[in-house]
Amino acid sequence: MLSFGDLHLSLPAVLAPMAGISDLPYRTIARRFGCPLAFTEMINARALALRNTKTVKLLESSLIDAPLGVQLLGREPRDFLEALDVLSDYSYSVLDLNAACPVRKVVRKGEGATLLREPDRLFRIIKALVDYSPVPVTVKIRSGWDHRSVNAIEIAKGIADAGACAICVHGRTRSQGYTGRADIEIVQQVKAAVPIPVIASGDILSAMKAVDVLSKTGCDGVMIARGGLGNPWIFRDLTLVLEGDPEASVGDPMKGIKTGDESPAVGDTTDDGHFRGNAVELMETMKDHLSMSIDCHGEKVGVINFRKFFAWYTKGWKNTRSLRPLALKANSAAEMFQFIDKLEEQCSRSS
Ligand SMILES: Cc1cc2nc3c(=O)[nH]c(=O)nc-3n(C[C@H](O)[C@H](O)[C@H](O)COP(=O)(O)O)c2cc1C
Repeated sequence: MLSFGDLHLSLPAVLAPMAGISDLPYRTIARRFGCPLAFTEMINARALALRNTKTVKLLESSLIDAPLGVQLLGREPRDFLEALDVLSDYSYSVLDLNAACPVRKVVRKGEGATLLREPDRLFRIIKALVDYSPVPVTVKIRSGWDHRSVNAIEIAKGIADAGACAICVHGRTRSQGYTGRADIEIVQQVKAAVPIPVIASGDILSAMKAVDVLSKTGCDGVMIARGGLGNPWIFRDLTLVLEGDPEASVGDPMKGIKTGDESPAVGDTTDDGHFRGNAVELMETMKDHLSMSIDCHGEKVGVINFRKFFAWYTKGWKNTRSLRPLALKANSAAEMFQFIDKLEEQCSRSS
């Protein structure tokens, strides 16, 4: 069981912080399929301290959206403490420090992965957060700045000494960005070196991969990032695989339609009574996701934000080549719902 602070998660998997993606609607959808802890996208501590309207919006949550991890980005301890003052008006369960972001405009300001090159500053920030935060503090790191300076083990030991209660390690260097393969050996070495829970991040694209990484690294949990895009049922698959269902790694409920096989019948269940997905479930998920996106962001932004999810949900489908580019230009709720209806028609024709 993945436990830290007073949190005991039912599944050893968490939903990653992802800028422009991990909003309330997406987190809500992931939770529906068993995600036990989700993080906000990275939130700039200075902007939060100043109560910037767009920044505060990133904290939008709900009763269902719990437990919630808030991820902060910054470099000045004072900014983090002022951000914590703002956070005292909000309900959240974990505070995560971003020492992993590789993006140029972030590292140029000395934030994100830059902190891996300034361990003393990193540990000072963590100590300040641990002293001041009302909730457990976790830290997300990369394996190092570049292949010549892989320092995740020393950094992780310092993070544990500074009082953080868990570490998430993305097994790529800052220089790698999101390319190449994540190095699970370094993640395993970090796990062996520290006394606090370690969560593995990088290339967890299916439930089977999650199980493989858990067993190879000995980590306490995995972080689902790109593997959950258009595939929130990865959490349900992982639950089933861990319960011993070897067929649960199907990936998503539309496997049949994507491959041309017969799709599962509506309401199909496994022997142990679990609901196995189907086209109806996928369409409902897309429609609910779109509705929540509109409720959260308003029609214009809600629809624009949903376009990328439409592409992810329908990735690999047969017969959507003409529909996808049109949906990616949809500007109104009516238009986007129509595209989902068209998909539904195509599904019923092909099943
Ligand atoms: C579009 C995108 C946005 C991301 N934003 C954040 C972020 O805000 N904070 C963070 O710590 N990591 C962020 N990440 C990194 C992910 O949390 C994760 O560590 C990384 O994608 C590796 O996992 P994967 O290979 O399974 O995708 C982001 C990744 C992507 C693809």
